[in-house]
Amino acid sequence: MLINLISDTVTKPTKGMLDAMMSAAVGDDVFKEDPTVNALEEKVAKLFGMESALFFPSGTMTNQTAIKLHTQPGEQLICDKYAHIYNYEGGGVSFNSGVSCRLVDGDRGTMTAAQVVASINPPDFYHSPLTTLVCVENTANKGSGTCWDFQELQKIKKVCDEHQLGYHLDGARLWNAMVEKNETALQYGQLFDTISVCLSKGLGCPVGSLLIGTKEHMNKALRIRKIFGGGMRQSGFLAAAAIYALDNHVDRLAEDHKKAKEIGKALSVKSFIKKVEPIETNIVIFEIDESFMTSDQFVHTLKEKDILIIGMGQGKLRMVTHLDYTDEMHEKLLKQLVAI
Ligand SMILES: Cc1ncc(COP(=O)(O)O)c(C=O)c1O
Repeated sequence: MLINLISDTVTKPTKGMLDAMMSAAVGDDVFKEDPTVNALEEKVAKLFGMESALFFPSGTMTNQTAIKLHTQPGEQLICDKYAHIYNYEGGGVSFNSGVSCRLVDGDRGTMTAAQVVASINPPDFYHSPLTTLVCVENTANKGSGTCWDFQELQKIKKVCDEHQLGYHLDGARLWNAMVEKNETALQYGQLFDTISVCLSKGLGCPVGSLLIGTKEHMNKALRIRKIFGGGMRQSGFLAAAAIYALDNHVDRLAEDHKKAKEIGKALSVKSFIKKVEPIETNIVIFEIDESFMTSDQFVHTLKEKDILIIGMGQGKLRMVTHLDYTDEMHEKLLKQLVAI
């Protein structure tokens, strides 16, 4: 039994999901004639109370499209130093949009409204890049699945309004945050100009993300998606998986969170563990006390027991719970951790 905790992206479609995919009605979505994609886009726009949504192949592409929508070359966006858009999207911010990032030294991937204000360049000081966008990530992946304080997000919205800044949410794992904090999609829809959500992470789809916003923004996003090469044809097969996941796989995320917290507890009592980051959702980030063993040695020890985890750099390791991580696997992992 292989236990893969490298990411929540490693899941394979369930039988129910595959059945939904196989019976999907499809058409050519580049001509907007795929009924299942259209149904998914309508469903998600309605869920968030926003005007329109657009289906994309990846969360990287939805984020990059949003950044392109909100900025012009030479401008600057504000994000936390841990942000996925800054660290893990291949430098797309500069490659695609010619934009720089002003990094905030936040708390586990989150920042305060005061930090955002302090990061805005004065618009009449033409020597500095013009600040035009604030990007936040909920949950914050590198911060260990951190959930944002909703009130802080509201305060940042106010700052964005006062300074005429776009406000984008990388909600790759927003589903996890909403389940954990009992928040609704409507609350988020009221706050942001654009929201990116992923279906291929906790929700267990093979592919797919959506960008959500105004009709005007999504009309522009359609062109940008085309330029990025993200137009898909009979993508209704994938949209069917997404609709199935939205109907069946959201509430169960609480199970992943419970398991992650139990893993964290099991790790924190081990003498060779230096630190476990607070666990709020499905991501466990921890550090090994290297006077006992190196983090590479720990990864290797687990690998020999058919347990796969990943390094995050700077001695940090990560485990992510997900739909394919069963109760049986969880029991085995906890036992193995006791035995090491
Ligand atoms: C927070 C966050 N945003 C965006 C992405 C990008 O998603 P994708 O892998 O679909 O491009 C990821 C992927 O792991 C992520 O963790």
